[in-house]
Amino acid sequence: MTIPSIANLRQSYERASLGENEVASDPLVQFDDWFRQALAAGVPEANSMTLATVGISGRPGARIVLLKDYSFESEPRGLVWFTNYESRKGQDLAVHPHASLLFFWPVQERQIRIEGIVSRVSAEESDQYFATRPRDSQIGAWASPQSEVLRSRDELTAREAEFAGRFKDEVPRPPHWGGYRLVPDYLEFWQGRASRLHDRISYRLEGDASWQIRRLAP
Ligand SMILES: Cc1cc2nc3c(=O)[nH]c(=O)nc-3n(C[C@H](O)[C@H](O)[C@H](O)COP(=O)(O)O)c2cc1C
Repeated sequence: MTIPSIANLRQSYERASLGENEVASDPLVQFDDWFRQALAAGVPEANSMTLATVGISGRPGARIVLLKDYSFESEPRGLVWFTNYESRKGQDLAVHPHASLLFFWPVQERQIRIEGIVSRVSAEESDQYFATRPRDSQIGAWASPQSEVLRSRDELTAREAEFAGRFKDEVPRPPHWGGYRLVPDYLEFWQGRASRLHDRISYRLEGDASWQIRRLAP
């Protein structure tokens, strides 16, 4: 078997540029602009994002979740995903509400880093989204004790059958399942450039409402 030469895997990024004078003064408007461009460019799973949290031990953990909503026109302004509140990430966020989100869109040679404070969305918001999910996913939310150790796959399918039998018609939202919203205080937009001299434009919230925009060295 041939071992691929990982050390020689490299890409030159030359598609676009990003200047401090061309970005929106509001980072969520800038996010909206890039997100729409990613969708239009056909970036696969453009709404998948890495969520990094820190647990009680101080160890960071990261996993992918799906961005399901973001609002920049109404308060609270932030990014929303849905999960099991009792999962490892749920336990982490209960002790350390600071988290980081990361998007990587290779088609456009772009990365967005977002940091901020996370809180649960309202029960009404979680109910509304849960009601739009396919029945299989709704049953799955009941069946999976996310992040817990299973004896076998059979245990999971048995739980699925149990809950499918219990909820014959409408499936209510499990109390341990719902949304989180990260309200950002730091964002960074990265555009790949030639010779590894990439563009990095950061936004930091200073005071309550004023975003400081700075260029960072790549
Ligand atoms: C493309 C993709 C999308 C995912 N979306 C979600 C999601 O929206 N919510 C979720 O809880 N887990 C999602 N997962 C699974 C998580 O990555 C993770 O395995 C799970 O949430 C358990 O993480 P935890 O044990 O750190 O809490 C997704 C995984 C992938 C690869």
